[in-house]
Amino acid sequence: MTETYRQVTSLIDKLEDQHSLTLDEYAFLIRNRTKESMDYIAPKARRIREEIYGTSVYVRGLIEFTNICRNDCLYCGIRRSNHQCERYRLTADQIMECCSMGYELGFRTFVLQGGEDRFWNDDVMCGLIAGIKEQYPDCAVTLSLGERSRESYQRLFDAGADRYLLRHETADKSHYEKLHPQEMSFEHRMKCLRDLKEIGYQVGCGFMVGSPYQTPETLAEDLKFLEEFSPDMCGIGPFIPHKDTPFASQPAGTLEETLWLLSIIRLILPYVLLPATTALGTIHPRGREMGILAGANVVMPNLSPVSVRKKYELYDNKICTGDEAAECRNCLSRRMQSVGYELATNRGDVRR
Ligand code: 5AD
Ligand code: FES
Repeated sequence: MTETYRQVTSLIDKLEDQHSLTLDEYAFLIRNRTKESMDYIAPKARRIREEIYGTSVYVRGLIEFTNICRNDCLYCGIRRSNHQCERYRLTADQIMECCSMGYELGFRTFVLQGGEDRFWNDDVMCGLIAGIKEQYPDCAVTLSLGERSRESYQRLFDAGADRYLLRHETADKSHYEKLHPQEMSFEHRMKCLRDLKEIGYQVGCGFMVGSPYQTPETLAEDLKFLEEFSPDMCGIGPFIPHKDTPFASQPAGTLEETLWLLSIIRLILPYVLLPATTALGTIHPRGREMGILAGANVVMPNLSPVSVRKKYELYDNKICTGDEAAECRNCLSRRMQSVGYELATNRGDVRR
């Protein structure tokens, strides 16, 4: 046993105990991941998750309802400068149809995710949310619509939205500025997250693993931010380059680093709802199963109509673009069973 490995395991023990480390300690953990250290942390992450959530994996039906976006994030395939991207916007009827299919399949959370599309202003969005909540009062509605004003977030909440996902992308301001165009601001992103929390949403933040210019130090800041912000949900997945973006030739994030971070996050935030993301399933055929074994407890199968699936391409080679919702559900349920877990058919609220 090397001295470094001994230090890593003692930091993991400390994290398990105190749910907190210093920035330097986080950076040390990130720099010194090994196969052995992953085998050391994963059972701890699983045990903590199972104490709170058992072996249930929560399902969220993801409806990608518009790929029209006014933003120009350098990593993202649906950025406005990508003229190769064929744009679409589902109608409210099509979205209701997705919910109906999802409900039949047992899903009790619908995630409405889209680009920052001006068509979906507060009036239109509130109508949609109220319509879904009226038809499915036993379901949670999660929004993932990017940055809006505090007033807008309040109106959507009042219309019935329960949760909001807005990845912070990186907690380091200068790193943030390398991933986004000048007109986007780190401060505004962080303000949005605080507003969402104050309004009363269950809030999710998160970041990509292996994004361009990321370092152990910026990742340490991400972990410190999670500790302090204490989100209800945290979405992380590997960065995967998209061919029609400025980051086309940047390397993808790795499976191992993503799994390592999933386990670390589970130790920091025992109760957090942590998805094994589609991006993780894209870089490895069993990525999502491995994510669950590293401490994740949520999966988000795609409920969007198959006709638009390929167009919501945030990154290259995204999986599940040809599969009907029912196929995805059955596929995921088999995958979860293969590692000793089962899909849960309830709202799956956070258990703080
Ligand atoms: N690779 C991986 N994840 C991406 N996202 C956007 N583009 C990519 C990419 N190229 C993530 C961002 C965003 C979420 C919806 O998808 O973190 O917040
Ligand atoms: Fe979509 Fe497996 S989860 S096909």
